[in-house]
Amino acid sequence: MMTATKELSYDIADIKLADRGRFRMAWAAREMPVLDLLEERFRKEQPFKGIRMAAAMHVTSETANLMRVLIAGGAEVALCASNPLSTQDDIAAALVVHYEMPVYAIKGESNAQYNSHMASVLDIGPNVTMDDGMDLVAMLHTRRTDLLPNVVGGTEETTTGVIRLRAMAAQGKLMFPVIAVNDAMTKHFFDNRYGTGQSTIDGIIRATNVLLAGKNFVVGGYGWCSKGISMRARGMGANVIVTEVDPLRALEAVMDGFRVLPMVEAAKEGHIFCSATGDMHIFDTPHFALMRDGSILANSGHFDVEINMKALEAQAVKITRVRDFLDEYTLPDGRRLYVAGEGRLVNLAAAEGHPSAVMDMSFANQALSAEYMIKHGDKLEGQVYDVPEDIDREIAALKLRAMGVEIDTLTDEQEAYLNEWSLGTGH
Ligand SMILES: NC(=O)c1ccc[n+]([C@@H]2O[C@H](COP(=O)([O-])OP(=O)(O)OC[C@H]3O[C@@H](n4cnc5c(N)ncnc54)[C@H](O)[C@@H]3O)[C@@H](O)[C@H]2O)c1
Repeated sequence: MMTATKELSYDIADIKLADRGRFRMAWAAREMPVLDLLEERFRKEQPFKGIRMAAAMHVTSETANLMRVLIAGGAEVALCASNPLSTQDDIAAALVVHYEMPVYAIKGESNAQYNSHMASVLDIGPNVTMDDGMDLVAMLHTRRTDLLPNVVGGTEETTTGVIRLRAMAAQGKLMFPVIAVNDAMTKHFFDNRYGTGQSTIDGIIRATNVLLAGKNFVVGGYGWCSKGISMRARGMGANVIVTEVDPLRALEAVMDGFRVLPMVEAAKEGHIFCSATGDMHIFDTPHFALMRDGSILANSGHFDVEINMKALEAQAVKITRVRDFLDEYTLPDGRRLYVAGEGRLVNLAAAEGHPSAVMDMSFANQALSAEYMIKHGDKLEGQVYDVPEDIDREIAALKLRAMGVEIDTLTDEQEAYLNEWSLGTGH
């Protein structure tokens, strides 16, 4: 139920969880040194003074730490979930109680509630949007066009959101500039690969407690996320089979030592299936027909479209929730398929999302891109922009420094050599 005091409106599951949420925020913060450095600077410089932000993000302990940094920089931020199952209710409560933030997010909210929460966040009248999947920007451009003139620009966290934004910009429909945080090297090299890799395996294990060693683990796609999943599943002793549509990525998977098969072949062999492609129906009726009894299916792509859930539901003679975040689908021939996290991104639905050490870099990109947007947004157009390279490099340097890792610098001689064309064989 929506609650509003004179100053603060919010809709969360249970306000009494606030202190637990604050402990979990502090635990996550221990591995977020780059955000700490930014908070220190923002507190002094107040780059977001007078700025209203609307954020649709996974409401996790890491996101809460990003919120604390934005607030320290002077921002007024309203937050909703970017997925109905990814909210951590204790974190939502901590932000309301300890940061007096308007938060609208409840784990397990219906699609209707998800949309009404997003509408509430937009009521702040944002100058900057912070999105994860582009649902917020879509709503702004369809149902709340009255708010568009206030918006200087936005940032986008994930691959699927960037793909949607590019499609929108190509049609000339994007009305303000958006920075593709996902495309920063300090984001997708680490977050998508190591973050999704570890947390997806974590989600599958928490949902099923199944032993991975010796299992055939089929991974849909071999992009940044699915590379991480493949790598970590192999590390747990599974025999990994990859499916792809892109010949370069398929070749990379082969040379990384994985079997690559079409899904109709892989479907017969797998015990566990997980995709992260950003594409729809990676697991579909022809594959369900071939899968062995007891197969486990999961998705780690942004939207719940990678497993054709509607087709599976239509075929099932019985659907039973057998564990938290695990549903059994009994098919007419008696085989049972198990779907983790309702087909939504399993690392957030059944586990806690990415470890904070990688989100430190992703969210440093968010914070610095938002700052960049405030400074330069009025000179940019309704297009998708890369994170400026100096921001990316600064984050990598800060992260290394915080980790206590030192690297070499080019000598003058090396610098000159690398900038010279005339020095070839024998100099
Ligand atoms: N779970 C999370 O926390 C998390 C984190 C980051 C990104 N994501 C999401 O994961 C998805 C993938 O992101 P990414 O950065 O790895 O993208 P990416 O573009 O690097 O990789 C996607 C891969 O999927 C392949 N693919 C597309 N259709 C396919 C099909 N029908 N069969 C097999 N392979 C197919 C593509 O060829 C590509 O190699 C996106 O939806 C992204 O938003 C999720």
